Amino acid sequence: MAVQYSYDSSEDATPRRLLVTGGAGFIGSNFVHHWCHAHPSDRIVVLDALTYAGNRQNLAALEGQEQFRFVQGNICDRTLIDQLLQEEAIDTVAHFAAESHVDRSIIGPDAFIQTNVVGTFTLLEAFKQYWEHQQKPDDYRFVHVSTDEVFGSLGPDDPAFSETTPYAPNSPYSASKAGSDHLVRAYHHTYSLPTLLTNCSNNYGPYHYPEKLIPLMSINILLGKPLPVYGDGQNVRDWLYVLDHCRALDTVIHRGIPGETYNIGGNNEVKNIDLVQMICRIMDELASQHLPVKPSRELITFVKDRPGHDRRYAIDSTKIKTQLGWAPLVTVEEGLRQTLGWYLTHKTWWEPLLSEEYQAYYRQVYA
Ligand code: NAD
Ligand code: DAU
Repeated sequence: MAVQYSYDSSEDATPRRLLVTGGAGFIGSNFVHHWCHAHPSDRIVVLDALTYAGNRQNLAALEGQEQFRFVQGNICDRTLIDQLLQEEAIDTVAHFAAESHVDRSIIGPDAFIQTNVVGTFTLLEAFKQYWEHQQKPDDYRFVHVSTDEVFGSLGPDDPAFSETTPYAPNSPYSASKAGSDHLVRAYHHTYSLPTLLTNCSNNYGPYHYPEKLIPLMSINILLGKPLPVYGDGQNVRDWLYVLDHCRALDTVIHRGIPGETYNIGGNNEVKNIDLVQMICRIMDELASQHLPVKPSRELITFVKDRPGHDRRYAIDSTKIKTQLGWAPLVTVEEGLRQTLGWYLTHKTWWEPLLSEEYQAYYRQVYA
């Protein structure tokens, strides 16, 4: 099943030169595909350390294209960043690089502080020094991609997170993202650096690493393995199809106001257990001949809860809708059909990821 990339490119009067950090990860690679398709005159330089979550295969279709360059490197490497900003004459940084998985942050938080806090600081410092010497500083942008998890956990009747909700991060992951958000805000306030901050809800779609809920359940169904639902399965997430998120970031880069924050949500609040039931139903339909266990809902298994598991996230996207004209287009039913169809036809993408390292991680979390 092909992934559809589309965007109104009428805002392309001046071609941009982007540095995309973390562009070989899940959202970053979808964003790079989106951008190359929507803005063929722009330059895209991906900087990615290729950690366990980074995968050069995600960008294979772009290798060799003139507008695209891949650089393997770390966002904590100040010399490399200085060099890339200068030699590529970057005007826009889209910052995705992060350690992104809550369960891994509970097992080992060190890398989260290093990449998410120190790495973001290193990028901001390098960009500030570079930007201060530009002749048209108003044309520059630094977009920091962050998460709704910085706002903490909602009760069932609480209003959704808005841009003014106080920060209350609960996991080492969300605390490290909150730290990076504060740095981004401070660099605008103190130095007038043209930063923009986005906080979005749970993404899903193609190229999603198998440790996260939707790919993990999809692949386990195909393998006939148990579907581990944490706790009572009543936790709620607001699911955003990744290409809706990429359009939102495109909108923020072209129309957002420096210094502002934009919340981005899918308007699709679903309880985990209901989502897993939906995945089972759709997979039973799409792969009816090929499933080791059918109906696949028989594989659902309730397991020990995640420590400190946030109960509910929900995003109020009113600001980006009314001020910038963006809204999500994909319902969770449509998005799941696209996504599960992609996993069905891309076994050669996910099978190599179920490595010994992944199995060791899996045993540690689900033992
Ligand atoms: P991911 O884990 O799939 O990808 C992260 C990428 O960053 C990988 O390619 C990895 O190799 C790279 N990376 C990690 N450390 C690096 C370093 N020190 N230097 C350079 N590259 C490094 O993550 P994702 O799900 O695509 O998330 C992207 C961003 O969006 C993150 O900042 C995350 O916090 C944020 N976010 C994600 C979601 C979601 O649902 N996935 C939701 C809200 C916000
Ligand atoms: O809300 C945005 C965040 O969404 C991002 O900032 C993170 O980078 C991203 O990983 C995601 O975090 P979550 O912890 O919400 O996503 P995850 O896919 O790990 O889990 C989604 C929900 O499903 C959560 O309530 C935990 C539950 N879960 C997860 C796994 C992996 C299970 O019940 N079983 C599982 O095996």
